[in-house]
Parts: sequence; structure tokens; C-alpha cells
Amino acid sequence: MKEIRDTGLIQDEPLIFERGSKGRRGYSLPGWDVEKVDPDRFIPPHLLRGELEGFPQVSEIDVVRHFTRLSQWNYGVDSGLYPLGSCTMKYNPKVNEEAARMPGFSLPHPYQPETLSQGILRLMHELERSLAEIAGMDHVTLQPAAGAHGELTGMMMVKACLQARGDKRTKVLVPDTAHGTNCSTSTVASFQMVGLTSNERGVISPGRVAEKMDEDVAAIMVTNPNTLGLFEENLAEIAEIVHRKGGFVYCDGANLNALMGIVKLGDLGVDVVHINLHKTFSTPHGGGGPGAGPVAIKKELAPYLPVPVIEKSDGMYRFNYERPHSIGKVRAFYGNFGILLRAYAYILTMGPEGLRRASEMAVLNANYLMHGLKGAYHLPYDRPCMHECIFTDRLQEKSHVSTLDIAKRLIDYGFHPPTIYFPLVVKGALMMEPTETESKENIDRFIQTMIQIAREAEEQPDLLRQAPQRVKVRRLDEVLAARKPKLKWTNRG
Ligand SMILES: Cc1ncc(COP(=O)(O)O)c(C=O)c1O
Repeated sequence: MKEIRDTGLIQDEPLIFERGSKGRRGYSLPGWDVEKVDPDRFIPPHLLRGELEGFPQVSEIDVVRHFTRLSQWNYGVDSGLYPLGSCTMKYNPKVNEEAARMPGFSLPHPYQPETLSQGILRLMHELERSLAEIAGMDHVTLQPAAGAHGELTGMMMVKACLQARGDKRTKVLVPDTAHGTNCSTSTVASFQMVGLTSNERGVISPGRVAEKMDEDVAAIMVTNPNTLGLFEENLAEIAEIVHRKGGFVYCDGANLNALMGIVKLGDLGVDVVHINLHKTFSTPHGGGGPGAGPVAIKKELAPYLPVPVIEKSDGMYRFNYERPHSIGKVRAFYGNFGILLRAYAYILTMGPEGLRRASEMAVLNANYLMHGLKGAYHLPYDRPCMHECIFTDRLQEKSHVSTLDIAKRLIDYGFHPPTIYFPLVVKGALMMEPTETESKENIDRFIQTMIQIAREAEEQPDLLRQAPQRVKVRRLDEVLAARKPKLKWTNRG
């Protein structure tokens, strides 16, 4: 294997506002061949555009290079391995983008009549059926715009169902290995969150659930595979305990990319599950959306589905708004159709065998990565993982090197860092998810780089503490950047 060098991409350049010089133009137009007129004579003064103070005067190539280089600072899954655990930055096949750009899909207005939108409605209906089949559930709503939004929608349906039964339950059990959004969702849905501690295998014990489960518990919210990248092996037994006391089992199915085609969550006793299309079905994501977090439910919850529900009768697809028990609308119109379309294209191009193979490869790649890094980094749960694996900085502590330093050093080698300090149950966590699309060579290169960084931590720890060096901006004050973002250029600096 070739030696790994830190080359990075040094792209230091002034802002566009700081470039150019007076009179420089980005265009050249032919001379006037009509009489020159004074716009003041024809256009009301308040509609006339004035000079913009400080507007850059630059040539075409200045502009092209500037924006091309800006686009290169933006590390994406199309640039290289993006091992962000929990976020699942998997490759978005370009054929899905092609489908999404087809005029029949991209041009219709949401108010277009149903009779003229039959293809779109059919696509959404078939996507609902496919997701229901994959999750082993009865019905699906496509409306929620993100995973967390799906969670809230699911818990609102649980609440509506309990209210209809006249059952005033107030608590929701949330294990420490659940995704952070599960805690927020239970609270936003006006339940009191009750924590559950995972066992030494990193999963929930039925015994601990039984201890906390009573007739005031509305539901348990379980992330499966959980945020340690481990399969909740006792879920079926836990579901029985919860059901026996009249509660619901909510599964955060955002990590379905490890299970699709292999395990049907509905078969494990799950009553409601949300699916992150952007994590499992290869639709683009980032910056909080636009995404899609469809929710799949068992038939008991069907009366509470958000409206409209897509139905088929007499060979026609229709939106049904006449559903008196519905929790109402959770999203303008019908959800993020462009994202739904990409997921549908992915499911059709993969087929049942392809989806299963994708899950198998995601799990295989994560286990390969885990074995490759064993010894170089501390592995808190030394057992086969699902689609992601978790290490810590414990072995590097003696050199006073932290998880943050390791992550920053990866940038010098041209890799996006993994998720760090999450999940919270693991101190100094480095959470890595290679996804199914990475080749063995890519993963080998990442492993070799991580091992080299572990060696540097022992021999030249300052290299890590000062990383990243080969970038335009180095370590940011992230709190300041979040609290006081500079969103506008001013010449006052
Ligand atoms: C397990 C899990 N649950 C929920 C979410 C929240 O999804 P979203 O970011 O789409 O709201 C995520 C996001 O990555 C996740 O990994």
C-alpha cells in the first residue's frame, strides 16, 4: 500500500468583495445600436436600482474561480469517504437525481388537480406500500420532513389513540442508547421522559423495562440498531412486556440501513416506526433538510394518520381528507415530494435483493473497519457491530490527545471526521459509519490513516493538537460561530 501523506487542499484566497479593481467587468457587450435613453424618464425612482456600496468589480474568471473554489471547500459524499456515524452519509446515486429532474415530476404545482396528478399519487402510494412492506407494518404516512419530525408525528398518533381510549398515560421510557431526538420528542409530545440504562452488552435488558413499566407508561422509544451501533436483541421480549401493560412500542428506525431486507421491525412487536429516507434510501441530506421521515404504523393507529391519506378506488388515486380522528396535517401539502421520488427510484433500482445486500454490506464494512482499528484505539463494546462502530480516545489520553484532536487531524489527510462525543454513554466517542458504498480499498486507506494518526499521537502529539493545518480556517470557536454567526459581509471587518 502507498505511503499516506497529509496533503490537504490549501485554498487561501480573499473574499470576492476583497478582489478585483475599479472598472473591471465580468462581461463584454457589443456597442449600442439603439438610441440611449435615460431610465429615470420611464421608471419610477423607487424601482430604479442604485449603486451597491462595496460591490465587487471583478472579471468573469475571477467569479468562476471564486465560486468553483468555494464549492470545493464543501466536503461532500461525492468528494470522499464521509464516516459520520449516526448520520449515514451514504452515496446518492445519480440516476435518482435524473428521475427527480423529469419535468412530469419537477414542474407540477401542489394545487394541480388529482385527475392530472395520477402518476405522482401512484408513486407516493407505491412508496408507502414498499416502506410498509420493508418495515413489516400496515400503513405509512410520507408527510414528515425529517426523522425527528416523524418521531413527533408517531408520538402524536400514540397520544391520540390513548386519548380515544380515555387513557391518560404520562410517561415514556427512553433508554440511554436511544437517539437524542427520542428524548426531545417524548418531551415535546408532552410526556415525561423516564430514562433506562443499557446493560454491559450495550443493549436494553427486559428486566429493567419490566421494573419501570407500569400503567402510566404510554410508550417505550427504542432506537434499533441503537446509537452504539448494536442490535437491540431483546426487542421482541421488551415489546411483550410493554404491550402487556397497555403501552406502545415506538421504534426509531432511522438506522434501518442495517436491517432492510433482513429484519422486519413490525415482526418484533413494534407499533410505530419512523424511517429516515435520507439515511436509508440514499436521498440527499444535510443542514436539517429538506428530508423525509415517513412513519409506518400498525393498523390500530390508522385512524390517527395525518391527512390527507392517499387512497385508490375505481382505478383512481385520491387524497382523502375526511378522517375525523386524524391528528391533522404535519406538513404543508404532502411532504417533500422530490425526496420521496428519489427514495422510490432507489427502492426500484435496488429491488428486494439489492436492498438486503446493501444492509449486509453496510454491516460488513462497519465490522471490517472495527477490526482494522482494534488495538490502535480503545473499543468500548468489543462485539460484532451493525452499520457503525464506536471507539474512544482512552489509549491516546496518556499523550494528552483527545477525540477532537484525532478528528481534526483526519482533515489534514483529506477525510471528513467521524461523529465525535456521541453517543453520550461513551466517553470520548469516535463513531464511524463507512456505509455500504465504500470499497475495501477506500476503507483500507481510512484504516491506515487512522492507525498513522494513532502513531502520531504517541510520537508527535502536537501535530494532532494543532490540526488541522492544511485548511483555510483552522479550529473555530464553534460556540461563537453558532451564537454569533457572521452571515453578511461588511467592510468594517
Ligand atoms: C437514530 C436517529 N434517530 C433520529 C434521527 C433524527 O433524524 P433527522 O436528523 O432527520 O431529524 C437521526 C439522525 O441522524 C438518527 O440517526
